[in-house]
Amino acid sequence: MPTPRDITSIIVENREVNPKIFLLSLNTSDLDIWSEAEPGQFAMLKIADMSCDDPLLRRPLSIHNVRDGKIQFLYKVLGRGTLLLSQAKPGTALRILAPLGNGFSISNSKTHCLVGGGMGIAPLLYFARKMKEQQPSNTIKVLLGARTKNELIAVQDFTEPGLYDVKIATDDGSEGHHGLVTDLLDGINASPGDMTVYCCGPHPMMKAVSNICRKKEWKCQISLEALMACGMGACLGCAVPKKGIGIQEYLHVCSDGPVFKAEEIW
Ligand SMILES: Cc1cc2nc3c(=O)[nH]c(=O)nc-3n(C[C@H](O)[C@H](O)[C@H](O)COP(=O)(O)OP(=O)(O)OC[C@H]3O[C@@H](n4cnc5c(N)ncnc54)[C@H](O)[C@@H]3O)c2cc1C
Ligand code: FES
Repeated sequence: MPTPRDITSIIVENREVNPKIFLLSLNTSDLDIWSEAEPGQFAMLKIADMSCDDPLLRRPLSIHNVRDGKIQFLYKVLGRGTLLLSQAKPGTALRILAPLGNGFSISNSKTHCLVGGGMGIAPLLYFARKMKEQQPSNTIKVLLGARTKNELIAVQDFTEPGLYDVKIATDDGSEGHHGLVTDLLDGINASPGDMTVYCCGPHPMMKAVSNICRKKEWKCQISLEALMACGMGACLGCAVPKKGIGIQEYLHVCSDGPVFKAEEIW
């Protein structure tokens, strides 16, 4: 795994692709850092301007894509940090610590199923691409869920014919299956051992996905989120309880994760 580095990168594009959802593209001369990064790893970033200490801390974002000399992040405006980022123009310099954490690992199953809910799609595109490069003959199913059609993000990036078997679910039925993305997962028939599920999305959705996988005896990896300060295992601010009996142990989302085997958590 590449050692994290503290670098400066320049924004080449920062475009609103859906209301409050932005696609940030950075030009980087440090492309080797990014091309070695594993899908599911993340970066801590903030605007470089030293007078800009509001917010003080960098914010974690997953690597969304690396291609054509650019690194991309897909992010939703939530609070102060992402609002300031969304207002940054091309040419603005960002301070970035990356790549961080442990990403997804490609299992030896025949079928791989990527499940993304809402912004959970962010790390899955790069992962799907890398998996297709490494295991071109394997089946890659992609299940994407959102509340409504208008909240589906980056779906077109997965729909290149022949690459992935993509299915959509919306809570209101405005696109694809009318219901939850977990309904689509539950409807898949695959023997234990033949299937691995990789999931990123809201906490309750990932828990439901983990439960289905346990019932069907499929392997499952989940990408957790937590509030982060350092992103490198030093501040212990991102601790989550580890599953187990006896004395409660904790895992750190930034350094032990963000991708975990589901059975480590639930
Ligand atoms: C490993 C990792 C990867 C991530 N990847 C992405 C990504 O690719 N795209 C994306 O849009 N977001 C991603 N996030 C979430 C993103 O980091 C937060 O949305 C961002 O830090 C919010 O910063 P802010 O200053 O805008 O909001 P703040 O002012 O810090 O927070 C605004 C509100 O959002 C809540 N909040 C902040 N961060 C989180 C979080 N991590 N989980 C739940 N609630 C939170 C706060 O409690 C507060 O209520 C990721 C988080 C982690 C830990
Ligand atoms: S964010 Fe500091 S230990 Fe994880």
